[in-house]
Amino acid sequence: MAAAGARGPGEDAVNRIDLEGRVVVVTGGAQGIGLAVGRRVVASGGRVAVWDVNAAQAGAAAAELGAGSIALTVDVAEVASVAAAAAATEAAFGRIDGLVNSAGITGPVKPTVEYGAAEWARVVAVNLNGTFHCCRHVVPVMQKRDYGRIVNISSVAGKEGNPNIAAYSAAKAGVLGFTKSLGKELARTGIAVNAITPTTAKTAILDGLTPEFIDYMRVRIPRDRFVEVEEIAAMVVWLLSEENSFTTAATFDLSGGRTTY
Ligand SMILES: NC(=O)c1ccc[n+]([C@@H]2O[C@H](COP(=O)([O-])OP(=O)(O)OC[C@H]3O[C@@H](n4cnc5c(N)ncnc54)[C@H](O)[C@@H]3O)[C@@H](O)[C@H]2O)c1
Repeated sequence: MAAAGARGPGEDAVNRIDLEGRVVVVTGGAQGIGLAVGRRVVASGGRVAVWDVNAAQAGAAAAELGAGSIALTVDVAEVASVAAAAAATEAAFGRIDGLVNSAGITGPVKPTVEYGAAEWARVVAVNLNGTFHCCRHVVPVMQKRDYGRIVNISSVAGKEGNPNIAAYSAAKAGVLGFTKSLGKELARTGIAVNAITPTTAKTAILDGLTPEFIDYMRVRIPRDRFVEVEEIAAMVVWLLSEENSFTTAATFDLSGGRTTY
């Protein structure tokens, strides 16, 4: 038998979430956390619009997801690209019920005094501005039906401020502030806006990090293991469901005990 806390979300551990008939946009949905969310959305009865800058992988992801899912090539840092994708998604499905902002990059790992202005700007452009652009263009579609669930993927770095990755930490903290602001703005409507702060999951995003930095994060997880993308998806799909009818402007922790606030 697996040790307590060591078990990942095996097939037998999956609860049925009701996303029947729902259309969910997943940015960064071509791989990693976004793809795991897409799989769980489809398993819950929903359809997915994969928005990703990687066209080939986005197409492969939508083909794998099936169930009427589509892929759009989108750079979330570009307003025009996001606006076009929102319009195309509404045209394809006639509605958008959910938005998961998972597109993200870490940027380089190095001391702040060595960071270039362009490197800093790109990390903020994708992680923070991208989240704004997608909400800015999807919320009006949700408002037409007075229904929506938005989940912004922040990071434990946004709460803790990991050293040598200041742009990412700052952008992810910005996502939390933005989530609180937009959630309160929309609190009297049918649209909920929440964020999650995962610890490290083994995805392609780690490829740009140093082994020393990955070790720095690993030893700080009281659960004593990385989080599985399926465990992140499990929390996200509940936040996407109609049953999440009250909580908004909140941050949900997925740090395995590291951040208890
Ligand atoms: N993996 C982790 O350890 C971890 C921990 C906490 C938070 N996160 C956050 O979770 C999110 C997903 O990360 P992941 O681990 O799945 O990474 P990943 O690299 O596996 O997937 C990220 C996806 O985002 C896409 N993307 C990158 N820039 C984009 C852009 N400008 N426009 C559209 N798409 C773009 C990539 O093509 C890729 O498909 C990110 O926001 C990341 O910061 C990851």
